[in-house]
Parts: sequence; C-alpha cells; structure tokens
Amino acid sequence: MPLVLGIESSCDECSVSVVEGEGARVLSLATHSQVKLHQPYGGVVPEIASRNHLETIHPMIDEALARAGTNLGSIDVIAVTNRPGLVGALLVGVTTAKAIAYALKKPLVAVHHLEGHAVSAFLDTPGLAQKLGYPALIAIVSGGHTCLVVAPGQPQTWPEDLLASGLVGRSRDDAAGEAFDKIAKVLGFPYPGGKFIDELARSGNPKKYHFPRALSRKETLDFSFSGLKTAAAMEIEKIRKQGQLENEKADLCASVQEAIVDALWIKIKLALDRNRCGSLILVGGVSANSRLREKLMGECHVPTVFPKSEYCTDNGAMIALAGFFRYAQGRELGKNALLGLSALPSARY
Ligand code: KG4
Ligand code: ZN
Repeated sequence: MPLVLGIESSCDECSVSVVEGEGARVLSLATHSQVKLHQPYGGVVPEIASRNHLETIHPMIDEALARAGTNLGSIDVIAVTNRPGLVGALLVGVTTAKAIAYALKKPLVAVHHLEGHAVSAFLDTPGLAQKLGYPALIAIVSGGHTCLVVAPGQPQTWPEDLLASGLVGRSRDDAAGEAFDKIAKVLGFPYPGGKFIDELARSGNPKKYHFPRALSRKETLDFSFSGLKTAAAMEIEKIRKQGQLENEKADLCASVQEAIVDALWIKIKLALDRNRCGSLILVGGVSANSRLREKLMGECHVPTVFPKSEYCTDNGAMIALAGFFRYAQGRELGKNALLGLSALPSARY
C-alpha cells in the first residue's frame, strides 16, 4: 500500500497531495491557487508564478502531510511534475522533490503533467480502471493542451512513451481552454474565464451566433481553435460598438461554448470509431465544462468517465497517482538520474 507524495508546480497551482497508490485513494490535497495574483495581467506571468511557488511549496507539503495524518518518514514514494510547463515554476517542484528524496533516501518518480491529467479520472474511484473497455480514448482538454491519446489497457500497462506513441490528434494552434480564456477576456471576464462562459451560457441561446468548427469535414483528428477565437473576437467587438454587448453576452457565451464543444465532439467521435475504443476518458480543466459533459453523456456511444471536479484542474493528487503507476513499473530514478533530474519546459514526452 505505497503512500505517494505528489508535487505539482508546472503553472499557477502549487499543489501537494498524499495518495494511497493501490486504491487510488486521495488522503489529502493541499492547493494554493495563484489565480488572483495573475488576474491583473490577464494571464500567467512566469516570474511571478515561480516566486510564489517558492513561498508556498513548503506550507503545501506540511499541510498535505498533516491532513493525511502522516509525515515525510512514512511516505514511500515521491512523484513530481518535471515536464512540460513554465521552466521556473517546474524547477521549484523538481528541486524540492529531489532534495526530499535524496535526504530521506526515498524513491523519486518524474511525471509528465499530461500523464497526471490522464489518470485523474481514476482518483477516488477504486476499481474504475478494471471496468473500462480498452483501448480507451483519453481526451486531454486543458488550458495548455488539447490532445487525443489511445491507451492500450489499464494505466499499469501504459508504455513509457504513451503520450507520443498513443497520440492520434492534437490542436494545431490554441488549446480549447486557451480559446475559452481568450474569448472570455474579450468579453470582460477575469482570467481564467472558461468557467464564467460556462455559467453565463446556461441562460443563453447557443444557436444565436454561428462560429466555425474548424477542420470538421477533414479526415484529420487534429483540432484548430484560432479561427473560432478570431471570429468570436470580431463579432464581440462589432456588438460592443453597437452598445449591445451586455444584452448579447449570454447568447455569445452559449454560441462560443457550443462551437468549442461541437469541435471537440466531432474529433472525439471520429477517434473513438477509428480506433475501436471501448471507453472515453475526458480529463483536464475543460472537462469541468457542463455543456461538454452533457453533450458526451447524451451522444457518446461508449462509457464515458470524467474526473471529480476537484481533480479536473491541476492538482498534486493526479501526479501522485501517475507516479504510483510508474513506480509500480519499476521506473523510479536511480541515484544519478535523481541528482540530474531537470525541468523540461516543452517536452512532448
Ligand atoms: O488543466 P488545467 O488546470 O490547466 C492546464 O494544465 O493547462 O485547465 C485550466 C483550463 C483553463 O483554460 C480554464 O478556463 C478551463 O480549464 N476551465 C473551463 C472550465 N473550468 C476550467 N473551461 C470551460 N468550462 C469550465 N467549466
Ligand atoms: Zn494541467
């Protein structure tokens, strides 16, 4: 029953968790969100992010251990996000994890951030991985990434390069979350604006405005959201000049959201069929979107699972669980690899 300490600091959440690996049980999760710090700038400022991680990482470790009723001596494995992300932010987590692992002679596992998202649906739902049909399609829909990955079996069996070897589609430009956030900014919502669009869209008409679903008739499984972003920004500016923005905001939100959700569903469906997938695992911050969940629950022909809402956005628990699966495969770092572990800002895998 290994106890895993998971550390996530790749972007603007400083998050630490204690997870009991075998049962995927989250014993504690302590997260310091930097959202308020970055809000005045309309996006994440890397230097502010890394400085704040430095201040909050130790309090988050202490809090996660205390809430789980344990201490560093009882932790069996340390897992840390080392790729991809903001290099200064990643370095804070990586350096801290290395120091703890080296000083206490604990095994250290380096985790790809997207692999963390990929396993997030399994947190606190013991037995779920065994129940799903395989191959499974993992749709990772976050603020920084939108990609489709085919997983051959349960997470314990995933090849080390799953995110490269299983990749069947990805965004050629903006990620879905990025499109939500950039359009939300033009509409005047604070960063990150995805959830505000989701909320206001509930009282809007999704058919009022038509925005492009790029590449929808093409054979590719890739996405493109930059055309939609530009079309929405131009429409919003036009309506603002007419003095109608406040009246039209809910319809604009609903129409934008419908276009993003449609664009995602078109490619997810194609990928499920082409790869004869037996289930769909939808993860990442945008998987919290209520319309996307509703659409998939209504239209998806294979069993579909999502993470609990607290595990959709970046968190240390998903890193701990991904680290546990890699540890179980014997992929902990040897002493030299531990000392040499670095942060990789733009690693594909
Ligand atoms: O996975 P995540 O925490 O960050 C990355 O790893 O990139 O996802 C954050 C993204 C942001 O773009 C945010 O606006 C979006 O997830 N998001 C949503 C919702 N909740 C979070 N987008 C649409 N609807 C939501 N309810
Ligand atoms: Zn993320």
